[in-house]
Amino acid sequence: MTDEQSRNATPAFDTSVPHPARVYNAILGGKDNYEADRAAAEATIRAFPGNVAAAQANRAFLARAVSYLTTEAGIRQFLDIGTGLPSADNTHEVAQAVAPGCRVVYVDNDPIVLAHARALLTSAEPGATSYIQADLRDPGKILQQAAQLLDFTQPVAVMLVAVLHLIADEDNPYQLVNTLMDAVPAGSYLAVSHLANDLYPEQMAELARGFNEQAAVKVVLRDHAEISRFFGGLELTDPGIAQVSSWRPRSNLEAAAPAILWAGVARKPA
Ligand SMILES: C[S@@+](CC[C@H](N)C(=O)[O-])C[C@H]1O[C@@H](n2cnc3c(N)ncnc32)[C@H](O)[C@@H]1O
Repeated sequence: MTDEQSRNATPAFDTSVPHPARVYNAILGGKDNYEADRAAAEATIRAFPGNVAAAQANRAFLARAVSYLTTEAGIRQFLDIGTGLPSADNTHEVAQAVAPGCRVVYVDNDPIVLAHARALLTSAEPGATSYIQADLRDPGKILQQAAQLLDFTQPVAVMLVAVLHLIADEDNPYQLVNTLMDAVPAGSYLAVSHLANDLYPEQMAELARGFNEQAAVKVVLRDHAEISRFFGGLELTDPGIAQVSSWRPRSNLEAAAPAILWAGVARKPA
């Protein structure tokens, strides 16, 4: 596949080519993956032996960010794009454990996530969840369909956790984030985690090279400054942009996890 083809591809259900959702599932020890995904997962672990713990650290960041947003920021609506396969502590489970009325719209472009989406749609009244099969590169479609469940006159947390590194520069990732954040009112939040090229740089270059050699969708590593640009015009909450494991860890164990992603949570000002 050429770079151009892979950039424009919406993942088909091809089990012979590794897909990000299934590779991530394999790294996390899940069962919804195929031989090609497991081989790609193993290649990333060879390049960076801490990758299993690093993926778990990303998942833990997602849970802490949702918990912070629900408990401390008072957010009751979430737009979780690049959801991944259902795992422990999905966004609606964490949010609704704090506030049962939370509404969550999940979005992914991989048909395997759609096939497993029922597990994400388990919310009970007064909360609600829905799932949209859509591409982050088509924010208009996402916003239009999400409006069936979310009230865009009220604050929304836009979750882009471990997905922006799957968007090539040519697809204008900064513009995509701006479009999403322009659609939500003041008091909304953006949460991002993103694979880094300035943490463990040699191992990360090898990890990306090995993954991109095999996978249908290429990974783009970015540095702290490039990832900071996603938060332009927003107010970062403490501790700013940090390694995923250093973003408000709940224990020394969480803080000690190897982290290969930068992460941050920011508020849209009035
Ligand atoms: C590494 S997983 C992250 C899952 C979850 N957000 C987490 O952090 O645990 C990335 C997910 O983004 C999805 N994805 C990749 N490119 C996408 C795109 N252009 N639009 C929507 N989803 C995309 C993949 O299918 C995959 O499920």
